[in-house]
Amino acid sequence: MGIKTRKILIVGAGHVGSHCAFALATQGVCDEIIMVDIDEDKANSQAVDISDAVAYLPHHVEARKGSLKDAKDADIVIISAGPLPNKEQTRLDTLESTIEIIKTIVDPIMESGFNGIFVSISNPCDVIAHYIWKKTGLPKNRVIGTGTALDSSRLRRILSSEIGIDQKSIQAYSMGEHGDSQMVPWSHVSIGGKLLLDLIEEKKEAYGKLDLSDIVKRTAYAGWVVLNGKGSTEFGIGTALTEIVKAIFHDEKKILPCSVLLEGEYGQNNVFASVPTIIGKDGAEEIIEIKLTEKEQEEFNHTCNILKDYILKAKQL
Ligand code: 2OP
Repeated sequence: MGIKTRKILIVGAGHVGSHCAFALATQGVCDEIIMVDIDEDKANSQAVDISDAVAYLPHHVEARKGSLKDAKDADIVIISAGPLPNKEQTRLDTLESTIEIIKTIVDPIMESGFNGIFVSISNPCDVIAHYIWKKTGLPKNRVIGTGTALDSSRLRRILSSEIGIDQKSIQAYSMGEHGDSQMVPWSHVSIGGKLLLDLIEEKKEAYGKLDLSDIVKRTAYAGWVVLNGKGSTEFGIGTALTEIVKAIFHDEKKILPCSVLLEGEYGQNNVFASVPTIIGKDGAEEIIEIKLTEKEQEEFNHTCNILKDYILKAKQL
């Protein structure tokens, strides 16, 4: 009996795709990484560069360039193709150019016989994840957008620097759009099990100065702090993606905020938006419905309405 190796196909070998590949390789998450890009030389170079690290990595991984046909027996296909937004654009502004590319990718992947899980990064993340789900007809648990998995780590970084507590001891999510309209359900943010809103009341010295709406804005803008200085974001997203993939391969049942299809949860339908989700071997296995306050529900509805407008636009492209 042969043991099945864990195979990942990454479509888009630019900054994001290559850093996803590198994070997957260094963390020993999979056995095979196939890099696919319209620029085959680049896909090859990224794969060879990763292979050059293998002798010094704790786990073996085979990395090579390939084609969409290689999705046939892949467990997970990662979509990281498409343009990065420029300084003046929002992620939503890249919809048209990303859809043009995604259109050419999804059908050949499905025609290959692919029977695994899509994890999509390309922006606008939530709208593209919805597009892939619709176009493939896959069950909803098998299409996941990385969504606010990344924004949530940014939120924890910003909170950590404000309150001087380690990021890992802070439980906080951004929800909704991986973009400007995301919201934070502050009534659920906790530090070592203690609600942040209680700490703000009880420890005015340390917590009273927190400007929560400014923190939400800084979280949503955090990608641009990186983009403006180096032209791309890559380490954060590569690591967030790897967290999702690990949860799938190890059937962790880890709760991560990522973009999934809502069918009645949080009062929303036919929209991909980030909510806390149990991730395991079957992908997005279950959505956790936390109880939002009235104001938080309004904010969540607002971010979903923006996404729905763009889902409609994507349909017309
Ligand atoms: C990011 O947030 C730009 O979506 C990309 O890093």
